[in-house]
This record gives sequence, C-alpha cells and structure tokens, in this order.
Amino acid sequence: MPRVLVIGSGIAGLTTALSAAVHSDVVLVTKSTLGQSNTRYAQGGIAGVMFDDDSVDAHIADTLSAGAGLCDEAAVRVLCSEGPGRIRDLIALGVEFDRSGSEFARGREAAHSFPRILHAGGDATGARIEAALVARIRESGAEILENTFLVDLVTDDGRVRGARLLTAEATETTFEADAVVLATGGAGHLYPYTTNPPVATGDGAAAAFRAGAELADLEFYQFHPTALTTSGSFLVSEAVRGEGAVLRNADGHRFLDRVHPDAELAPRDVVARGIAAEMAAQGGLPVVLDATALGAAFLAERFPVIDRAVRASGVDWSREFVPVSPAAHYWMGGVVTDLWGRTTVPGLYAVGEVASTGVHGANRLASNSLLEGAVFGARAAIALAADAVVATDATVVTPKASSPPVAVPDDTAAVTDAPPFSREAMQQLMWDTAGLLRNADGLDHALAVLENWTRQPVETRSIRSLEDRNLLDLSRELVRAARARPVSVGAHARSDSLATAPAVVTADHREVLSTC
Ligand code: SIN
Repeated sequence: MPRVLVIGSGIAGLTTALSAAVHSDVVLVTKSTLGQSNTRYAQGGIAGVMFDDDSVDAHIADTLSAGAGLCDEAAVRVLCSEGPGRIRDLIALGVEFDRSGSEFARGREAAHSFPRILHAGGDATGARIEAALVARIRESGAEILENTFLVDLVTDDGRVRGARLLTAEATETTFEADAVVLATGGAGHLYPYTTNPPVATGDGAAAAFRAGAELADLEFYQFHPTALTTSGSFLVSEAVRGEGAVLRNADGHRFLDRVHPDAELAPRDVVARGIAAEMAAQGGLPVVLDATALGAAFLAERFPVIDRAVRASGVDWSREFVPVSPAAHYWMGGVVTDLWGRTTVPGLYAVGEVASTGVHGANRLASNSLLEGAVFGARAAIALAADAVVATDATVVTPKASSPPVAVPDDTAAVTDAPPFSREAMQQLMWDTAGLLRNADGLDHALAVLENWTRQPVETRSIRSLEDRNLLDLSRELVRAARARPVSVGAHARSDSLATAPAVVTADHREVLSTC
C-alpha cells in the first residue's frame, strides 16, 4: 500500500487521514497532542445547505460576494454543492448538531443571506467535531505521531518524497512517504493578537514555500472583529451578533450602521475595519459588545464556552458590556491547490486553511472554513488513491493564483537600524504595517526589516526557533504580496488606495477609514 504522511490534525487532516486509511498506509503527524488545532476552537459552526428553503445557489452567491470578486467560482461550487454530503458524513461519524424540535437549529452569521449555520454544543462546534474525528482516527489503524514537528519537506528530482520531522524525543528523523498531505492550518501568530491557539505558526505553508510550491493570496488575512481584550484575544463568535448583540463605542452608541447597511452583520472585513476606525477615533479604547438584551439564561445555554470565558474575565455579559477588538483569525491565502488538494509540487497535497483552493477569495464567509476542511479533505483522499495508480508526474498543478505573483523585485533598501529579531518585534511590525490597513511606506519598511532579519543567522534546533523561521518566511512573503497589490480589496485594505475599496464598503466607511 502507498504510504501517506498527513501532517496536521484538524478537520481537514483528520478527514483526509480517515478517508485515505481505506486505501493507504496512513501516518498522521501532529505538532501537539491529537485534538489541538484551530478546529477545536471553532465556535460559530459549519455552513451548509441543510434546509429545504435554502439553496446551494444562495450559498454560492453569499460566498462569492464575501470574497469580493476574487473567489474561484468552480471551487466555490464544489464547496457549496458537496458541503451537505460532507456534513451528513460528520453526523454519521458521530457529530451531534444542535436541534430545535425535529429540525437542526439554524444559526445566522454575517454576510449569509440565510440562517444556515449548524452548531453543536452551542458554541462548541469545533470541539465536538474534533472529538468525533479523533475517536474515529484512533479506531482506524492509522499510525499517530503526536508532539512531532514538521521541519521541512524532503524533495528529490522535483517531487516530494517525505519529510524531516523532529520527534517528541527531540530527535530529527527523515520520514519517507509516497505522498505528503499538509493540513497544518493557519498562522495567526504572525500577529501579536490572534484568536488562534499557540500551534498556529504556519509550519506547513513555510515548508511548502521552501520546497518550491506555489503560494497565493497571502495578502488576504482575515481579522475577526470581536476578540476579548480582557483575556488573550479569546474569540467571541459572530454568532453572538447573529443572535442580536450589537457593538457600541466608548460613548455607548452604535456606530456600524454608519459603516454598512448590514451594520453588525456586514462582511467580516468591513466590521473589523469599522471597529479599528472607531477605536482610533476614541484614542485606542476597545469598542464594546452589548449582549445584555439576550438574557443570562440564553447566553449560558446558546454560548456556554464564551459564557465561561467572558465571566472568567470578570464581566457579567448579561448585564455589562464586553470590551472587544479585532484579532488575526484566518488566512485566506496559502499553498495553491487544484480542486483535489494537489499542489504545484508532485507528491505534495494541501487541505484546509494551509491551502489556497480559491474558495475564500479576498474574504472568507463565516463558517465556510470547517466546511472547506471536510469537503477538500475528502477530495484529497480520492486524489491520493487516483494518483497512486497513475503516473504521478501527470498530476502537477498549474498555478492559478488570483494574486499577482508573490515575488517582486528585491528593491528594498537595506535597513541598518533594524532591531534584533524577536518573535514579538516581528509580530508588532506585522500588526503595524500589514494588519487591518496597509500602505506603501509601511510595507516597504516592513519588507526591508524582514529581509534584514532573514539574513541574520537563526538557531534552528528548538521548536520555538523553527517556528520563528517559519513565521519570518511567511511574514516576508505576505508583505511582498501586499506590496504587489496596490489596490484595496476584501481583507487587503490599503489606506493609500481607498478609491478602489470593495463595492460593499459605503462612502461613509471610506470617510471613516481615511481618518484613521
Ligand atoms: C465565529 O464563530 O465567529 C468564527 C466563525 C468562523 O471563523 O467562520
């Protein structure tokens, strides 16, 4: 049987591993313990057309509209039309989505024209999905290597042949495989404020980049509008606003109705920038989420995870406002794949957040990410089976990036007064120059500093320093991609080019942005 190395244990990696275990000898590698991934922390739910009065066409239209014209329509069609089947697979694997009477309970999130979000355990959707998939993978016969870190991919003659891994015993080994599937998730730790768990340091995307795989859409980083400011950027789900909570400024007034007709339920990038502008206008103070109208009993039952976190931070949100601000949440860009998870390097596949399938365009629609992991994880397993019997070199993917090529002429001036590298300094630089708003001067400065740090010798024996190398490689490529796109679109907002801001942003919003 072909040997397949799956790296990452969120919904995408576990779905691929479970499906591939039927025809391949699967080894699942995970950086921490099984079950630690972004999936586990997903709150809002999974979007999919599961109700008779909804339609796949409506889900496609919402996804394309949130993506601000940069989605790959064929990929979106696959996502939305195969999504319901994959949700039913999850149910068959043991995920119990919440019900309202005889129907599934319907959640609403921003930019969905229909309440189509399924959730489990209230706001514990990701944790419930992860638990079910972990239980199934343990029964599957797949070999599982926990606390094992991807150092780099092994290539030979233009093909990926395995990976160098740092094991739990701190020993580096080379692991040979017929195919490697990256399912390593995102890289929220490119920024100092993130809803992502500590494992999200972009290890797969960085290794793929160094192995010569095409990356695309790196400039599109999604900032979630509402992370707790009192407790380590803990996510407060958009579903809370979907249930009626509103955002207020320091004077207690709503402000997002000046920004977009859908106010709190406008696309995520619009809400996040609207909050940032309001924070700038009030001297950096966070805005507040007002969920008081929802009542203590409803909040505890519908959002048990958030309820515990908010109360632990000292706020009784049934009576008090919750201070929130935007935080890095999800990377739309990543390793370019075709509709079956194949990257531009033979033998290398990518699924989930690490991949750039084209489904998210410039801004991901809420709750489409768990769906993407399930749909494209299953597809990658089919491709692995097919590619094991056909000439593998025939499966090379032609790059189809919607971004301009990430490599731009290296015309940045050398920075002589750059501070010494530290993860914290890099994260702050990214927040200041490649965060919610960017401009040419800031990006030029950031690239010069990042290139300077890239030239400094890096110790690569500890996992922390290997992560730093990955974050540095990805910061540099993200900034290069942002420099190469001089106009604002979706999550990539340039303060020096607001004339071409996305059509969904109103004139009022542009005025607000230009003041910050
Ligand atoms: C949320 O619950 O607000 C996050 C959902 C998502 O990122 O899609």
